[in-house]
Amino acid sequence: MTSENEQPAPDPAPSVAADPGTGPGSIVRPGVDLEPLVTAADLEELHTGVLSPSFPSEELESLESLVEGCTSGRTRALGVRRDGRIVAGAVAAGSGVPGDVMLLVYLAIAPGQRGGGIGGALLDAAVQTWVAESSPGLLLAEVEHPDHHEASEAHGDPAARLRFYARHGARVLAVPYFQPGLGASGARVPALLLTTLHVAPEAVAEGPADAPTAVVAGPLREFLEAYLLGSEGSLRDDADTRALLGSVSGPTVGLVDPADLASVPVGMAWATEGLRASDGDDS
Ligand SMILES: CC(C)(COP(=O)(O)OP(=O)(O)OC[C@H]1O[C@@H](n2cnc3c(N)ncnc32)[C@H](O)[C@@H]1OP(=O)(O)O)[C@@H](O)C(=O)NCCC(=O)NCCS
Repeated sequence: MTSENEQPAPDPAPSVAADPGTGPGSIVRPGVDLEPLVTAADLEELHTGVLSPSFPSEELESLESLVEGCTSGRTRALGVRRDGRIVAGAVAAGSGVPGDVMLLVYLAIAPGQRGGGIGGALLDAAVQTWVAESSPGLLLAEVEHPDHHEASEAHGDPAARLRFYARHGARVLAVPYFQPGLGASGARVPALLLTTLHVAPEAVAEGPADAPTAVVAGPLREFLEAYLLGSEGSLRDDADTRALLGSVSGPTVGLVDPADLASVPVGMAWATEGLRASDGDDS
């Protein structure tokens, strides 16, 4: 997987469009014109046409929640329009306070439009836009562990997806990650990889700024606690939660190459293997 490990050359910062043809607020990038999605109509088009066909229902928040998040400023959405239709989108969540952790919540291309370079261009442009706007300490993304999730026609191939992120500079945090449940009764998504798409210089604990091997744990710990609490309504005292929070309780957290996942503990592995199911629910 040599080519997947190549870091993309940094692009110039995105600029607001002067071209009246792209409309106010558009962000011009080579190959992809990004547009902030803020109206309920645009967010509904994104949710219905792009996100719903791309993610299993347990991984996708409701349209109402997406609109509420974008209205309150906790969430921001960027879209790509082709022939008047929104064909791709990226959604991130975060406080917007410089130094805080941001999370890429969704990145998706409408079925039928994939494999043509829109996803890669959108990812690069979205990361640069959010870093320029909010100066996050870390910009993270959740990616299915390819050894624990099956490929499917509807939702794609986890190995291809991880290669995609790796090509765009993602590194994997050495934590046993799972996606918190949506709401108190929502199922957690096991065996996800928590990856970095951007590490600010002040978040680097070890290694060079452009290729860190560890990040400062504190902001990550605060983010994970807030994410679990916000999603699930409480900080549950179960083995999986303890393992995840325990992995960020020291001063630093290791960052590894996505091609070498051996040193990354797998969150809720029991749930994907169908073994020892009771181990994860001892609260
Ligand atoms: C993953 C995704 C965003 C990539 O966008 P894209 O426009 O298809 O990607 P690009 O054309 O820029 O790059 C192609 C690469 O994307 C990846 N990719 C393409 N189709 C894919 C699919 N169905 N599933 C997973 N990854 C895919 C592959 O790595 C591919 O390169 P490779 O075949 O050489 O390995 C898009 O396929 C998608 O929306 N998938 C469903 C939703 C999803 O998985 N989102 C990411 C998780 S948040």
